[in-house]
Amino acid sequence: MECFRIVGPTRIRGEVTASGAKNAALPALAASLLSEGPLELSGLPAVRDIRTMRQLLGHLGVESEEQGEVVRLQAGEQTHFDDAPYELVKTMRASILVLGPLVARLGHARVSLPGGCAIGVRPIDQHLAGLEALGAEVQLEHGYVSARAHRLTGGVFRFTAPTVTGTENLMMAACLARGTTVLQNCAREPEIRDLATLLRKMGAHIEGAGSERIEIEGVERLTSASHRVIPDRIEIGTYLLAAAMTGGEIFVRGAISADLAPLLEKLAASGCDLEASNTGLRLSRAGDLKPRDILTAPHPGFPTDLQAQYMALMTQATGQATICETVFENRFQHVSELARMGADIRINGAFAHVHGPTPLSGARVMATDLRASACLVLAGMAAGGETIVGRIYHLDRGYEQMELKLQQLGARVQRLPAEPTRAA
Ligand code: EPU
Repeated sequence: MECFRIVGPTRIRGEVTASGAKNAALPALAASLLSEGPLELSGLPAVRDIRTMRQLLGHLGVESEEQGEVVRLQAGEQTHFDDAPYELVKTMRASILVLGPLVARLGHARVSLPGGCAIGVRPIDQHLAGLEALGAEVQLEHGYVSARAHRLTGGVFRFTAPTVTGTENLMMAACLARGTTVLQNCAREPEIRDLATLLRKMGAHIEGAGSERIEIEGVERLTSASHRVIPDRIEIGTYLLAAAMTGGEIFVRGAISADLAPLLEKLAASGCDLEASNTGLRLSRAGDLKPRDILTAPHPGFPTDLQAQYMALMTQATGQATICETVFENRFQHVSELARMGADIRINGAFAHVHGPTPLSGARVMATDLRASACLVLAGMAAGGETIVGRIYHLDRGYEQMELKLQQLGARVQRLPAEPTRAA
């Protein structure tokens, strides 16, 4: 199994360009099922989750070809299949994003239930209740969701709690429903706004995406469109945190400050200098780091997808920082690995108390999920000596060419084909 070998401590210094957002690209790809196409997408990051979604779409009969950085997807007439099998869905929960578009366009779909994952149970009850509110008949059988509707009908649906892919699934389904749909208590993430922009280019009538109430007036059909996905705010945040943690300086080209507000506020309060421009965002840190508490929450709260990386930063702050994870119930698996590198962190339910600063020392650690892996890479760059981060296939799901980008920033990070038999 491939791993990263990191030799620290390093100071991150230089410029890096943001990749397209994985979590905007996934629903954008799924949207290709809504029309005959073609749908031309650019800015898709070269990461494993995107390859998995393209494979799933291929299985559903969507033809895709690459022309430079543009991916051209063509679902064609009603020739595609309606079945998303376990083998594909189990590797990526976001596969559930094909459910809404398939039911809306074909009138039926059978998608494997994604099941739990390392960061929590993650049910999809809201996706299903929402589809039922639009008139679909939903059944769970043999680990699969089957949904049917001759034609979906607009309705009013209130999410019990905001869900990102749930909001996206229903927004896509409602585009082809008869009449008006009102979705309430929606997730407000920038990726949802981006999907609405794409759907509008395809001819959908959507208002309010990015707010808690989204109104969609269904249309008979959607058409071809071209779209570039937004930059990846979580990737950008990860590189900003890397520079903050190592006392370095970075310019992230393509960063949109407004989408990163909750992180930038904490970085500024903890002693980092930030400067936003039209082209990106600069961060540097020369002085000591101050501890600052965070509480993860749906957008515009602090993103759960940056919690692990922020925790790595707080190990270097002087004093105690409390981190409260409210979105997923099991997203502290990086804590025991950080402790192996010397961090002093106590967990109490949804709270993690980080006592710093602790000098970190290189160790063998194991990635458990995508963002936990990124946290360990950050810790490895700040730590003295060699760190081996195992199971980096998690990282490859969502970070494009991470080792190359970090090398460009002066870090000593190498991808090894297998874990060494013992640390050097
Ligand atoms: N939830 C339910 N029922 C549902 C749906 C969600 O109870 O039907 C709960 C979840 O269990 C969780 C909370 O609601 O406690 C929020 O989950 P959400 O549905 O918003 O998560 P998601 O849509 O499955 C997306 C991102 C995740 C990110 C979360 C939260 C994509 C493809 N994935 O997941 O990204 O952590 O929103 O912001 O957009 C990552 O990139 O590392 C990642 C995990």
